[in-house]
Amino acid sequence: MKTILDFARARAESRPIVMVTAYDALIARIVAASPVDAILVGDSVAMVVHGFPSTVEATLAMMVLHTAAVRRGAPHRVIVADMPFGSFRRGKYAAAEAAPALLRAGATAVKLEGVAGHEDVITHLVNGGIPVMGHLGLTPQFVNQLGGYRVQGRTPDAARQLLADARGLQELGAFAVVLECVPDEIARCVTAELTIPTIGIGAGAGTSGQILVITDLLGLDERFQPRFARRYRDGHGEVMNVLEDFVHDVRAGSFPAGEEVIA
Ligand code: KIV
Repeated sequence: MKTILDFARARAESRPIVMVTAYDALIARIVAASPVDAILVGDSVAMVVHGFPSTVEATLAMMVLHTAAVRRGAPHRVIVADMPFGSFRRGKYAAAEAAPALLRAGATAVKLEGVAGHEDVITHLVNGGIPVMGHLGLTPQFVNQLGGYRVQGRTPDAARQLLADARGLQELGAFAVVLECVPDEIARCVTAELTIPTIGIGAGAGTSGQILVITDLLGLDERFQPRFARRYRDGHGEVMNVLEDFVHDVRAGSFPAGEEVIA
């Protein structure tokens, strides 16, 4: 995808939208050469790359740095960058400084979690030319309030609220909404009610598209594997094998050899 209009087109044509996260230029270049539609520079960067326990630790400076790197690796792709924790809760003028910083770094659009209490921010950004993707269901920035990473929208009240929030986001001008960790039936219902696409993560098979964290797809983290993510490769095992082979070859005196030795 080259512009956010492609999201609406995909939805209209019932073509599933495929997104993955990327945090650096090399992975972004690989993703850009693949058929994946769009890239998210998620605030999961705080956990995946920086080793923090949650996304609450992501800062605007961190998001700007990684967004710029991803843009260098994927110059022609739609890149959505997460507005970090707190950056859209200090009013619309503060948000209107944070979001342009992400766009100047290379983002095509920003994503922000939740909707209640920052409706004016979303309107302000959209009216200011900044495409906004919503994020509902399990919103990891609210982990301290949610009491952990739990499935959301299970009770009738919670499901109704989720639907109302999704409708609200659409009315405010969001071009798409991520639904994270919600029951399949609820995600289907939200998707059917909206005209904008829904991008699911742990939200079943009825959304307009899917997004996964790249390291989950690659199986790089042996300690963390969300139930809903498909681990396409044992990346951790592969990297470990390569490292063991390297250590073996150096210790056995077989590396470097031949053309690896500069005469
Ligand atoms: O930060 C992130 O990676 C995300 C995805 C899980 C949707 O928000």
